[in-house]
Amino acid sequence: MKRILPALLLATFFTHSAIAGPAATLLTSLEAEASRQAGSTVSGSASRGDAFFHTRRAEWSCSSCHTADPRQAGRHVVTGKSIRPMAPAANPERFTDRARTDKWFRRNCQDVLGRTCSLQEQADVVAYLSAL
Ligand code: HEC
Repeated sequence: MKRILPALLLATFFTHSAIAGPAATLLTSLEAEASRQAGSTVSGSASRGDAFFHTRRAEWSCSSCHTADPRQAGRHVVTGKSIRPMAPAANPERFTDRARTDKWFRRNCQDVLGRTCSLQEQADVVAYLSAL
């Protein structure tokens, strides 16, 4: 297990070298955690994250509140409150606080999917949002 980590970090660096800052740090952590859990290398996919983000479940998709273009400000479908853009390129505060990110992943995944999001799904979403 110890041996896959350097290889994983290297692979992550080359796959996501366009992503920088806090989002890159978060993505690397999520991938490392998901890989430990799976016992094999897991990497976030922007295209899977894109599909995941826009797929409507029972009632909502992630884009219901965060808009189809997450570089735009969103709006909460229930309260009507404005939500700052989800893409780090449009809102540098995104993914700067792991506890906060975890909390909202838990809450929003529960609301949209009726379950928590897997580490792989979280990595995909972060890869997608960071690539915008
Ligand atoms: C019912 C409205 C709603 C839906 C649907 C929704 N979200 Fe959110 N989301 C919010 C609100 C409100 C916040 C907190 C305000 C903010 O961060 O600007 C938030 C924040 C987040 C954050 C915090 C990011 C950070 O670190 O700053 C993540 C991650 C997130 N949402 C992911 C998702 C994902 C993934 C989905 C789809 C499974 C989703 N959201 C669907 C309302 C929603």
